[in-house]
Amino acid sequence: MVWGSHFCGGAFITRRHVVTAAHCVSFFRLLPHFLQVRVGGHDAQVTVRVSLVSIHPNYGRLAKFDSDLALLTLAEPVAFNAAAAPVCLPSARASPGRAAVALGWGKEREDARDFSQTLRQVEVEIQDKDVCAGYGASLTHSMLCAGVNGGGRDSCHGDSGGPLMTQDGDSRWVLAGIVSFGRGCGRPDFPGVYVDLFQFMDWIAEVVIQ
Ligand code: ARG
Repeated sequence: MVWGSHFCGGAFITRRHVVTAAHCVSFFRLLPHFLQVRVGGHDAQVTVRVSLVSIHPNYGRLAKFDSDLALLTLAEPVAFNAAAAPVCLPSARASPGRAAVALGWGKEREDARDFSQTLRQVEVEIQDKDVCAGYGASLTHSMLCAGVNGGGRDSCHGDSGGPLMTQDGDSRWVLAGIVSFGRGCGRPDFPGVYVDLFQFMDWIAEVVIQ
């Protein structure tokens, strides 16, 4: 997503709908036309305007980042190609131990000054909730934690809104989560926290169909 320059990630679920984090776009709720989606991979140049920003009604309810989910409806449909493809929606909850990949243009380490110039990926694992108990009450039931034992691999600032994907049996990529928040990046006791997308499928269907 761009507003002048890159600030958050997102993932296509249809040619006109992008899933992202509510905290990325809540400011634009009444100003969708200021928001642009830059489509594609490493040096994507196509930008598309947003016509509607839908924020999940429970965003921020039980904790600052509770239900941190938004859907963007684009002004025009995009053409998919090798660099821009939709991701499948989950049909089951991502369970601890599953391998997952997070994608984004975010910082390569927490003290980096700038975002990454290229789209990057990091391999993590869905983790048991008690691994991220350090987050206390900021962690709600609608979230997933993902990282690796001992830390060191994580999404980071600028990756928010982007996808956390698992690969199903048919090798299709499934959107398990959305990058939401974390304390620092890659710290041992603070894995990345993601929206657990499976819990929001009804809302997504509602927004996409309307
Ligand atoms: N809120 C951050 C953003 O604005 C995402 C941080 C994710 N942090 C993490 N340690 N996984 O981009």
